[in-house]
Amino acid sequence: LMAEKNGYDHFMLKEIEEQPRAYRDTLRGRIDEDSQSITLPDMMMNPEHIREIKHIQIVACGTAYHAACVGKSIIERMTRIPVEIDVASEYRYRQPIIQEHTLVIAVSQSGETADTLAAIREAKLSGARVLAITNVVGSSVAREADHLLMTWAGPEIAVASTKAYTSQLIAFYLLALYIGQSIGSMDLAARAQLLTQIKELPDQVQNMLGHMTQIEQIAEHIAGYHDLYFIGRGLDYTIAMEASLKLKEISYIHSEAYPAGELKHGSLALIEDGTPVIALATQEVVLEKTISNIREVKARGAYVIGVAFEGNMELAQAADEVIYVPRTDALLAPAIAIIPLQLLAYYAALARGNDVDKPRNLAKSVTVE
Ligand code: G6P
Repeated sequence: LMAEKNGYDHFMLKEIEEQPRAYRDTLRGRIDEDSQSITLPDMMMNPEHIREIKHIQIVACGTAYHAACVGKSIIERMTRIPVEIDVASEYRYRQPIIQEHTLVIAVSQSGETADTLAAIREAKLSGARVLAITNVVGSSVAREADHLLMTWAGPEIAVASTKAYTSQLIAFYLLALYIGQSIGSMDLAARAQLLTQIKELPDQVQNMLGHMTQIEQIAEHIAGYHDLYFIGRGLDYTIAMEASLKLKEISYIHSEAYPAGELKHGSLALIEDGTPVIALATQEVVLEKTISNIREVKARGAYVIGVAFEGNMELAQAADEVIYVPRTDALLAPAIAIIPLQLLAYYAALARGNDVDKPRNLAKSVTVE
């Protein structure tokens, strides 16, 4: 088993560092350079199928659900098709409204999660077309879905998902662009611009991974706390949810992700002197609002760690410290900003002496409902 770790102490760290490779593999062969368009032949969903879609529902569990949260946001922004998201175990018990042209997307790293499979079966019984986004060829989810969009993260061993999550994000960017080009909801210039930035992601992540020494110190600092908060607005909130789950899973530190503007409606009462608050601030359109939320928590004694694009000097003034990540399009922020927070969870778990790859009570894939 040591050999498979390639010299790394843990699979999780190895898998975090494999992300640039996973991005490249998930993108490979799917961007046509001449026409600046997406080709997804393996998905076997032709433009007529795509043009019929009136409504999308995404089902998933755990980390895959957090990828779905990002997926909803980007599909809606790029295509204007309404998207609902459900935790798979809730989906079939809420009598979901499946219409004639509803596309159901199931996201699952393993392709064997019982809750997700049950949701797929429910959707198919109601006549929906089902597309699976999965990392395992030949898995149950892959076999039961009508259409397949593979992520090429490679085998993921650590229970806490990292490269599978970010590969799911890449799959959603490709899918949203593909739908967008099929229905004509995006002009060519906007599409070309976004594609250029997507292609830069692997190198950006690779460079960033070489400069993350600051994270270990922050992890040692937060490892001494019982509770902490992740805040953000819009896509920053989706990053916050996944970052909070990562930290809980392996460090066992209680944390909550909160939409930054909602904190004042209740949870602000929990902020004490020194409470760490990790504030995601990559979304330019809501930056001023997020900064005013940072001031609110700081006024109650919080210790604020910001996460922002390089060059965001306003955040350096508002927060106690800032983790800077390479600048990209706001829609692509989750694929970059989650990475230092995966490392933060990893180092916090190490600082607490936990079994990073096999956290207590959790399984890599849960095959019971
Ligand atoms: C388990 C794992 C999580 C994972 C979830 C969904 O709970 O511990 O890390 O996100 O299942 O797994 P899937 O294979 O369907 O993506």
